[in-house]
Amino acid sequence: MCGIVAAVSDRNIVPILVQGLQRLEYRGYDSCGVAVYSEGLKRARSTLRVSELMEQVSAEHIEGKTGIAHTRWATHGAPAVHNAHPHFSHGPTLDASSTGEGRVAVVHNGIIENYEELKSNLQKKGYVFQSQTDTEVVAHLVDSLYRGDLFAALKEALPLLRGAYALAIFHKDEPNRIVGAKAGSPLILGVGLANSGASQSKEKTALISEVFLASDAMALAGVTDQIVYLEEGDAVDVHLGSYKIEDKNKAPVTRAVKTVTAHSGAAELGPYTHYMQKEIFEQPRAIADTLEGVVGVVPELFGEKARAVFGQIDNVLILACGTSYYSGCVAKYWLESVAKLSTQVEIASEYRYRQSVPNPKTLVVTISQSGETADTLAALKHAKSLGMLHTLTICNVSTSAMVRECELSYVTRAGVEVGVASTKAFTTQLAALFLLALCLAQAKENLDSQSQDQFLKEMRHLPAALQAVLALEPQVMRWAEDFVLKENALFLGRGTHYPIAMEGALKLKEITYIHAEAYAAGELKHGPLALVTDAMPVVAVAPNDSLIEKLKSNLQEVRARGGVLYVLADSDSKIENAPGIHVIRMPEHYGLLSPILHVVPLQLLAYHTACARGTDVDKPRNLAKSVTVE
Ligand code: M6R
Repeated sequence: MCGIVAAVSDRNIVPILVQGLQRLEYRGYDSCGVAVYSEGLKRARSTLRVSELMEQVSAEHIEGKTGIAHTRWATHGAPAVHNAHPHFSHGPTLDASSTGEGRVAVVHNGIIENYEELKSNLQKKGYVFQSQTDTEVVAHLVDSLYRGDLFAALKEALPLLRGAYALAIFHKDEPNRIVGAKAGSPLILGVGLANSGASQSKEKTALISEVFLASDAMALAGVTDQIVYLEEGDAVDVHLGSYKIEDKNKAPVTRAVKTVTAHSGAAELGPYTHYMQKEIFEQPRAIADTLEGVVGVVPELFGEKARAVFGQIDNVLILACGTSYYSGCVAKYWLESVAKLSTQVEIASEYRYRQSVPNPKTLVVTISQSGETADTLAALKHAKSLGMLHTLTICNVSTSAMVRECELSYVTRAGVEVGVASTKAFTTQLAALFLLALCLAQAKENLDSQSQDQFLKEMRHLPAALQAVLALEPQVMRWAEDFVLKENALFLGRGTHYPIAMEGALKLKEITYIHAEAYAAGELKHGPLALVTDAMPVVAVAPNDSLIEKLKSNLQEVRARGGVLYVLADSDSKIENAPGIHVIRMPEHYGLLSPILHVVPLQLLAYHTACARGTDVDKPRNLAKSVTVE
C-alpha cells in the first residue's frame, strides 16, 4: 500500500528516495512520484514501475538535497499521473503573488475523511484542484496557512484534518526543511549519522548529517539503522542536521532513537520464478525458525509478563483481517479444545465499529503479518479503550506498531514476505498460535506434561512433514490444468479445516481472479448446493479425523449433482480416485496440526493456476501487501 520516503541532506538525495520506494514496492502500488527542491519545486510521477520513475528522473536531471517520494495505492481518484503524489499547491489563482510555480509539496498515506468540505472552502479562496485525491487538500490548506514558517502552518492545519494520515511536506521558500505528522498511519524518522562508528555513540544528536522520514524502516534499509518511531499525534520539524518532535498537545518531546536492523524487501528470487513460489517452498525453514527457541511449553515465550497474564484471563478475543483472520479461525478450535478457553474470532474492521460487551478478563490477540494493518491496529486500540488491557500479538515484524502496542508478543520468523498472497506468514502464525494454545492450556492446568511433550514433538516434526507435502507439487499441477479455464470454484472443509478451505478459496481469488467460495461442508445443502454443476470444481479438505464420515456424505451430495471433486485425503483414507473424483493423498495424518499441512497444496493450486492464466502472481491487481488504510 502507500509508501513514503523523505529526506533533508547535504547530498543529492534522489537516488536514496527512489531506492527507498523500490524497497516498498512489494507492498503494492499503482503509481509513484518524487519531488525535490532544486531552485523551486521539481517533480516526476509515473503510473508505471518505480524503475521507470528512476529513468524519468535521470532523463530529466532531477536532483536535489531535500525531497519527498511516494508510492500510491489508489483510494480517491483513479491510478493516473495527475492523482499520483507528490501533490503541489501553486497558491490561489486570486493571489497576485502567485507565479504559477509549485509552492508546497505533499505526500500522504491514509485518508482525509473531511476532504470534500475542506476542498469546497479552499475552492472559494481560489485554489484550483488538479486531482481527484483527498491528499491535495492538504497541500492547499498548508499553503493557505503559510506565513513564512512551514511547521507553524502544519500545526494550524492538523486540527482541521479528520481521518488518518502520515504526512511529509516541504515548501519552496524553506529549501532545507521538511515537516511531517502522524495520526493513524505509520511514520518513522531515520537519523543519518556523520560516520559509521556513530551508532555506538551516546551523542547521536551531535553527529546528525541527514534526516529521513518514511512510512516503514524497511525504506531506509542500508541507509540508516537509527530509527525513531513517531507516536500518535506527533508532528515533526526536520532541518538539515537536526529535528524536533512535538506531541499531540504541541509539547516538545524526545523519542528514543532505536537501532533497527530492517531487511530490504527485495529478497533474492534465487531459482524461483515468483516470490510466492519461493515463499511456499520456504515454509519448512520458516516454521523451523519460528519454533527455534521453543524448548518447552513456557509462557515467557510470549513475554516477561505472560505467565501472570495467562493466569488472569478467562477467555480469548482474536482480531485480524484476511489470511490472518483465517489463522485466528483455526486457533479458535485449538484454544477451545486444548486450552478449554472460550474464544471469539472477529474481523477487525467489524469489531472496531460495533458495540460489544467488554470483559477485562479477556486476552485480546491480534494476528498480523505486517503488524501495520490499519483495521487490526484500530480494533486493538478500540479493545484497549474498552478496558481490555491484556493484549498479545502474533506478528512477523518485530519493529511493527502492533508489537509496540501490545503487552505480549510472539514474533514469527517467516522472513520478509514479498508476495501479496500470504503463505509462509500464515503457516508460521498457525505454529505460534498452537504454541499459545499449549501455554494457555498449561496455565489453566488443562494439559499434562506427557501431552505437552507429545505436542512439542509433533511441532518439531512439522518442517519434515511440510517437505513431504511440497513433494506433492506435480500432482497439484495436474489439478491446476483443470482449473485454468474455470470461472468458479467451491472449497469445502469441516472443523479446523473449514478455515483452511476459506484460506484456499482466498488464495485462488487473489491471484487467479477465479471466483471461489468456501463453505463448512455441513452448510452445503442449506444453499450452495444449488450452484453445483459439472462446470463447478469442488475442492474438499478431507483429513481422516472424527468428521471424515460426515464429510464423505457431503461429497456424495456433490457427486450426485455432477460436481467434480478434488479431494485432499489422507494416506489411509477410503476415498478413491474415480470418474469425477480426483484424490491427492497427504503423506501422513497430523492430528490437530494437520491444518498447517493441508493449506500447502491449496497454495500450490492457486499458484500454478495463476501461472497458467498468466496473471501477475506477486502483485495481483487492486491489492496491496500491507493495508495501512481502512
Ligand atoms: O499484514 P496482515 O496480516 O495484517 O494483513 C492482513 C490481510 O491484509 C492479508 O492477510 C491479506 O488478506 C493477504 N493478501 C492474503 O493473502
